[in-house]
Amino acid sequence: MKLTIFAATGGIGRQILEQAIDAGHDVTAVVRNPQKLPAALSRQVRVVTADLAAANPATLRSAVEGADAVLSGLGPRSNSEAGVATRGTRAIAAAMKATGARRIIVVSAAPIGTVPSPARPNPPKHDPGDGFIMQHLLSPLTKAALRKHYADLAQMEDILRDSNLDWTAVRPPRLTDKPLTGTYRLAHGQNLRHGIFISRADVAHYMFRAIKQPETIKQTIGIAS
Ligand SMILES: NC(=O)c1ccc[n+]([C@@H]2O[C@H](COP(=O)([O-])OP(=O)(O)OC[C@H]3O[C@@H](n4cnc5c(N)ncnc54)[C@H](OP(=O)(O)O)[C@@H]3O)[C@@H](O)[C@H]2O)c1
Repeated sequence: MKLTIFAATGGIGRQILEQAIDAGHDVTAVVRNPQKLPAALSRQVRVVTADLAAANPATLRSAVEGADAVLSGLGPRSNSEAGVATRGTRAIAAAMKATGARRIIVVSAAPIGTVPSPARPNPPKHDPGDGFIMQHLLSPLTKAALRKHYADLAQMEDILRDSNLDWTAVRPPRLTDKPLTGTYRLAHGQNLRHGIFISRADVAHYMFRAIKQPETIKQTIGIAS
């Protein structure tokens, strides 16, 4: 497939990139700092440089033109960068609409189903997949600590819902750097009971599978080991 990978220097992004190269796909990697890509990887892909906080629309259009799918691991590296998932995804969606690319899979986060956003000001109080401890202890704690980050991801999902693209937002819980297993649990539109961890490698693995799953279009997908 012809794939465009955004944030290919991030934890999940790098996993997407490596798995895409291993599978022999035709890859465009969009990064803000190409020096973070090892030469052995950048030699095998087309590299496009773009800061997604203020991206040039023409650069993004050229990056997504003709893509069978766009995979994004974009997210704020710190609270001060919160907003980049919204701004960047809005710019990516505009480039896709302009060029006719349709399929996009992004990384969101497990608590986002219960985070208010401009388009969903009154989301459910609890995710139906969360158990007692997640609902009453872990989720409130992480939502307090990562308030701005989660508000950014919730608004990113709003943009996708409003986009008319064939989008899927994958909502992982805590990410780890454990190796790829290819074995994980999935749930449409909700989190997974006792779903506390998932490796970045497995999230990337699932994002490839989702490309070919029409039932995940316009859906959020819970994933956990
Ligand atoms: N950490 C967790 O446990 C957890 C749990 C659930 C969901 N999530 C979500 O999953 C996302 C991906 O996780 P991760 O571990 O792969 O994150 P990460 O390693 O922090 O990667 C974030 C990526 O976004 C890129 N980025 C940030 N601002 C950018 C900008 N202005 N222009 C272009 N690229 C930009 C970064 O580029 P650089 O490499 O240049 O910095 C990096 O490639 C997180 O951002 C978060 O929203 C995280």
